[in-house]
Amino acid sequence: MGYKTLITIADITNTEEKMAIEQILKNYHNENGNIISILQDIQDHYNFLPSYVLNLISRELKIPLSKIYSVATFYTQFSFNEKGKHIITVCDGTACHVKGGPLLRDYISTQLGIHPGETTEDKLFSLEEVSCLGCCAIAPVMIIDDKIHGSLTVRKVNKILNTVKKSEAAEEGSQ
Ligand code: FES
Repeated sequence: MGYKTLITIADITNTEEKMAIEQILKNYHNENGNIISILQDIQDHYNFLPSYVLNLISRELKIPLSKIYSVATFYTQFSFNEKGKHIITVCDGTACHVKGGPLLRDYISTQLGIHPGETTEDKLFSLEEVSCLGCCAIAPVMIIDDKIHGSLTVRKVNKILNTVKKSEAAEEGSQ
């Protein structure tokens, strides 16, 4: 849910969202110097940093909005765009590159219809590319939902994507 105008906590109509923001405010009310932790909590909840929440936190914790943005833009872990439920990070470091990383990235791009840096329309997948995931011995490598997959082939990638898609379909069917 998004709120376009400046709001206060009382204006949040989604109960779950309201409770999450209240918890973040409660956690940090007396230590507003810990902006990184606040931003991490917001991103954990939303998968990105919605501008209306940053505005709200700024006012409630009396932290200048400019200070919040300067921290958020400094660290690459923070995103201002809504991300998908499943984040796929493909590696394009040297070891992965020579072992076919670009081919796998292109395969995933084609399968999902998105390029690195983009999110599928149904908000299920985001695709990201980094220069090394630190496990070059098992190149080519990708991470999906915090799990590392190595020694990848197109066949393996296909299997992993299908498993995630099937579990999503099952979840959808059970609702
Ligand atoms: S180059 Fe891919 S994990 Fe290091």
